[in-house]
Amino acid sequence: MDKIVVTGNGPLNGVIPISGAKNAALPLMIASLLTSDKLILDNLPHLADVESLIRILTNHGVDYKVEGKRLGQNGGEGRTVHFRAGEIVDTTAPYELVSRMRASFWVIGPLLARMHEARVSLPGGCAIGTRPVDLFIDSLQALGANMDVEAGYVVASAKGGLRGTRYRFPKVSVGATHVAMMAATLAKGETVLENAAREPEVVDLAKCLVAMGAKISGAGTSTITIDGVDELHGARHSVLPDRIETGTYAMAVAMTGGDVLLQGAEAGLLDNALDVLRAAGATIDVRNDGIRVARNGSDIQPVDVTTEPFPGFPTDLQAQFMALMTRAGGTSRITETIFENRFMHVQELARLGARIALDGQTAIVTGVQHLTGAPVMATDLRASVSLVIAGLVAEGETTVNRVYHLDRGFERLEEKLTNCGANIRRVSA
Ligand code: EPZ
Repeated sequence: MDKIVVTGNGPLNGVIPISGAKNAALPLMIASLLTSDKLILDNLPHLADVESLIRILTNHGVDYKVEGKRLGQNGGEGRTVHFRAGEIVDTTAPYELVSRMRASFWVIGPLLARMHEARVSLPGGCAIGTRPVDLFIDSLQALGANMDVEAGYVVASAKGGLRGTRYRFPKVSVGATHVAMMAATLAKGETVLENAAREPEVVDLAKCLVAMGAKISGAGTSTITIDGVDELHGARHSVLPDRIETGTYAMAVAMTGGDVLLQGAEAGLLDNALDVLRAAGATIDVRNDGIRVARNGSDIQPVDVTTEPFPGFPTDLQAQFMALMTRAGGTSRITETIFENRFMHVQELARLGARIALDGQTAIVTGVQHLTGAPVMATDLRASVSLVIAGLVAEGETTVNRVYHLDRGFERLEEKLTNCGANIRRVSA
């Protein structure tokens, strides 16, 4: 299995192109199941999760064609992929495919809406908590589906089709919002989703669905209204820039010092995290072509953060921010409220010399002067990259094992960092 070896090498300077967002790309690809016409997605990132989802969609009967080249090879534009679900040949999403990635469970919404039936394995994904599917089941039931769980599969049916409804999510869920919104596009009548997720990826999906002929208003607020239509048609849509990749590199620069332009990044997608970085001592310059992040001379300041649904501080940046705080000049408190088990990076950061104490869902991080390289391992995507960030300033070599987690969500990580002066390489085992 590949490893990433990072050696502390001073400040980062240069340009990092920001890819299309993984967490927007996945639901957008799944939306292709809603129509027999072609859905063309531009700026699709080249990631293991995208490839896994392509396999799942193919199993349902989706044809796809890759056009263009990878990001960086054609002036910063991502890949363009054509998806066409001319005929759905199978409404079962099997365990072997779904267990690898939680988002693949989301096919349940479009399959149910278009085919009036779906049988989808209970999901897998990063080991960051129990991550149940009750909100999916409840909201689809509210839309008129019969929902059962049998032998590890969620079995859904809606003879005669889904019906519009008013449904209030008891808890904010990005995935359940994506799924209920997709399902409601083909339901009879109006659906109102309350306490919906407001994440930019929900807005991006809504934009694409509207381009496909759906009638949706309110995406980006906590109340989304969907007027069902008989069918959707093809469209072309460009995946929005990855705010988590943006925040990750911004934190890397805040950690190492230096000056980097995050090309194509959109500040409006991560205002909260950028404010936190400013408070931590980084200079953030929002420009037309991206975001310039610098830290020259100033120390890293401790800042307390609590993860929250959008527009709050994202849970997907919590590990990276913790890495940064390990070198702050003081103590910070980082509280995780979204997932109950998202502190696996703590013990790995400790291997590098970080001083972190856990108090329930809060990590108390006392900044240290030096980190020292060591072999480390992470069990989820964002935790893995937090170890890379720490490795960028650690003395000596940090070897990050289980690199496949990084490949799920970071396109060309080593290349992007190397181009800015990092000493980072992949070693095939
Ligand atoms: C999405 O996951 C993201 N994944 C996650 O990013 C992200 O951490 C998360 O949203 C929160 O922002 C993708 O977009 C592919 P949720 P999702 O449903 O939709 C609970 C990454 O690193 N819940 O908003 O699965 C759940 O357990 C990944 O890129 C229920 O209780 O997250 C959690 O505590 C990791 N019942 C909370 O809601 C349900 O039926 C929020 O989860 C569904 C969720």
